[in-house]
Amino acid sequence: MPVDPEEIVITVGATEAINLRLQAVAKPGDTVAVESPTYYAMLHATERLGMRAIEVPTHPAEGIDVDALARIVARRKIAACMVMPNFQNPLGFQMPERKRALVDLLSAHEIPVIENDVYQELYYGDARPSPLKSFDTKGLVLHCASFSKSLSASYRIGWAMPGRFRAQVEKLKFLNTLTTPSVPQVAIADYLRQDGYDRHLRCVRRLYRQQARIMSAMVERFFPPGTRTSTPQGGYVLWVELPESVDSMKLYRAALEAGITVGSGYMFSTRHAFGHFIWLNSVIRRRTRRGARGAQRQFHIERRTLNERRNRSGAGRRADATVARAAGDARARVVARAAVEAVQSADEHAAPPVDRAGRGGASEVKLGEEGTGSARLSDGGETLCAALFGPGA
Ligand SMILES: Cc1ncc(COP(=O)(O)O)c(C=O)c1O
Repeated sequence: MPVDPEEIVITVGATEAINLRLQAVAKPGDTVAVESPTYYAMLHATERLGMRAIEVPTHPAEGIDVDALARIVARRKIAACMVMPNFQNPLGFQMPERKRALVDLLSAHEIPVIENDVYQELYYGDARPSPLKSFDTKGLVLHCASFSKSLSASYRIGWAMPGRFRAQVEKLKFLNTLTTPSVPQVAIADYLRQDGYDRHLRCVRRLYRQQARIMSAMVERFFPPGTRTSTPQGGYVLWVELPESVDSMKLYRAALEAGITVGSGYMFSTRHAFGHFIWLNSVIRRRTRRGARGAQRQFHIERRTLNERRNRSGAGRRADATVARAAGDARARVVARAAVEAVQSADEHAAPPVDRAGRGGASEVKLGEEGTGSARLSDGGETLCAALFGPGA
């Protein structure tokens, strides 16, 4: 996609880009359409700015339901639509089709699209998928990304390509933070010039794909019957549906006690939905003895570790993979144990009577009602994941 450097506004991470773009196109009291489930900071942003989020059913493999969105925009005023067509957090899909249809629909109604593409570089396939921005002919797509996922979140360097809203975004940027610190920008620019970035990306893509598979396999192996897992096409996030009797907040607390962070599904909606879903970061870092809890699992890969890994012999790399697998195994066991206990202690709701081979339930993805929709996986069995989320699950 050809990019005009003049269009780019450098921001403090993608988070600032999300906030600035929202403020540029919508005002307090406006309604903004979002995917459901969606990344919680997008919901926080709308709430903080006094806007209302309307949740659009979102399929775990296909992405936002464009037809449902069409019905919504036909009957009410929508100020903007916020989406993540590539490697959505939390579902991990890469919208396979209908990107153009989505842009055309919103363009026909003159609705700005806030596209969040922070995982764009972390694809598991052969090439970076196209952004919505590449189908934009009217300057209505406000794209953003950052180096937080591909390099390190600690630089806090992101950017926005706000299309026809550039002047507004630039003004808001000036009012908001004046400017983005230049030292990390210079450091990143220097690094990019040195030709190591592509190699680094190839390495992390392979690693994240491998680790997402390991983590999925661990969930399949240890979690209670009825558990199902997304099949991400990129990034490093897993979305796990547990039996309905599991309260993800209780599970969150139990896991935290064991030094493990999982995200409660509640965070990904404003409707108190997804209560029995959890979000997992599938990046496995070597176990370290940091702090009092020597067994605390580390979820993020540091670049130093990656570089070491790259420079290792084949044997070293195999040893690393074993450590990673063991760490994933231990982490999945702890969360799984808490999940099993939650199922057992639930008052009347026994886990659904579905066997481990996935027989005994209808293999459907239930999409909720418009505006209250949720991507809900309604029955159990690991093998259903394949039917639901596509090949390779
Ligand atoms: C979907 C999504 N958008 C934005 C962010 C934040 O990005 P940044 O660290 O660049 O502000 C995250 C971080 O987890 C994310 O998952």
